[in-house]
Amino acid sequence: MTNVTPPDGRYWSAYNDAQAGRLPRPLCRQVLAHAGPSDGRLAVDLGCGSGIETAAMVEAGWRVFATDADPATPSRVADLVGPEARVEVVVGTFEEVRLPRADLVYAGYALPFVAPSHFPDVWSRVREALRPGGWLAVDLLGDRDSWAGQRAMTFLDRESLDGLVQGLELVSLDEEDEDGRSFSGPKHWHVFHLLARRPR
Ligand SMILES: C[S@@+](CC[C@H](N)C(=O)[O-])C[C@H]1O[C@@H](n2cnc3c(N)ncnc32)[C@H](O)[C@@H]1O
Repeated sequence: MTNVTPPDGRYWSAYNDAQAGRLPRPLCRQVLAHAGPSDGRLAVDLGCGSGIETAAMVEAGWRVFATDADPATPSRVADLVGPEARVEVVVGTFEEVRLPRADLVYAGYALPFVAPSHFPDVWSRVREALRPGGWLAVDLLGDRDSWAGQRAMTFLDRESLDGLVQGLELVSLDEEDEDGRSFSGPKHWHVFHLLARRPR
């Protein structure tokens, strides 16, 4: 494991500032394409950070419930979506926030920052939030990630991942296992980009 300091509020604020101007992440674009016309359905952006994926959902016609612990989230999202957008922004932690029932739940690089002691509860609430036929798109970190061993975060082996998706229809699972960069420097990324669906 690379020595890594657990991210705190100041780190996330700087991280989210630095995201300005990037494109929506591929997994978000992928789930929006799979989910088809929004017809005013509700999406959740869990750990919405800069709000770029929230704005992509709004652009695609979704109502959005966006949540993150970063106190600057409401202003970040408002700057991107404008006053008419049907977005509810809630500042809160994954461990506490009440998720609405939704047709799409997206969590981009967010759930690994839940401690293992809380992860099962957070994951059950994510699954319970999905309406029948609802889409789930999440990035999870694997046990070969260079941050693995960081006790405040959750890393999964393949068997645990298989357990998490039991009962869901697996649409795609892209596994990234390569050296790269993070906001805090070079690292080895082991990421599961998961796209699944709750059966109707
Ligand atoms: C790696 S960033 C990802 C943000 C965004 N989804 C993206 O892809 O750029 C993780 C986000 O999760 C938020 N976060 C981290 N731990 C959290 C927690 N326990 N509860 C709520 N939000 C948390 C941070 O504030 C940050 O915005």
